[in-house]
Amino acid sequence: MRFEDREIVLKDGRKCILRPTSPEYADQMIEYLEKTSAETPFLLRNPDEVGFTLESEKEILGRLLDDPYTIMMCAVVDGKIAGNGSISGIGEKRKIRHRCSMAIALYKDYWNLGIGTAMISYMTELAGKIGWHQVDLEVVAENEQAQILYKKCGFIETGRRHNALLFDDGTYHDEILMYKSLK
Ligand SMILES: CC(C)(COP(=O)(O)OP(=O)(O)OC[C@H]1O[C@@H](n2cnc3c(N)ncnc32)[C@H](O)[C@@H]1OP(=O)(O)O)[C@@H](O)C(=O)NCCC(=O)NCCS
Repeated sequence: MRFEDREIVLKDGRKCILRPTSPEYADQMIEYLEKTSAETPFLLRNPDEVGFTLESEKEILGRLLDDPYTIMMCAVVDGKIAGNGSISGIGEKRKIRHRCSMAIALYKDYWNLGIGTAMISYMTELAGKIGWHQVDLEVVAENEQAQILYKKCGFIETGRRHNALLFDDGTYHDEILMYKSLK
């Protein structure tokens, strides 16, 4: 969906713009997906599972920009993507269409500057305007940093999915389930 740019000031004094991830960022997004999935084990995608071409990424970002039920938000610092977040509906069926799901990841260089807090605040504000009643998310049990942020932003832990993830090193990892009410 399209939404207004929002400028924030980071903890180090730099300016950062939160804006729709439009097709003009396709090349940066491919690099971002490859690098962030290598920087942390806590994202769903392994680095070798990115596999987007410039054309396919442009097409996807264009489609999501025109979709009124998908938020794709990037954080831009000095013209470069520092991170990306998204919110999309869980499903079309009437019994579940009040729920949406959120994901977020930043380059390591931009952690702990306040970007995550600002992005979650803006994304959940937009999600409430779209009409969703709650935001759900899953986070790897060992990812304490993300859980601290989510709790700070009003998310509540509701459960745990046993052995939800199998890493390439053969280890299983639980997921913590969290939600935030938008009502
Ligand atoms: C999780 C992530 C999005 C957080 O974004 P961020 O911009 O670093 O978060 P912020 O700077 O807004 O806030 C982080 C807060 O956690 C606190 N924090 C960070 N590490 C901490 C720790 N080890 N112990 C206690 N508090 C900690 C910070 O002090 C800050 O709180 P404050 O603003 O009250 O001081 C980012 O670290 C990231 O992209 N991680 C890798 C990808 C990932 O794990 N994504 C989530 C998948 S579910």
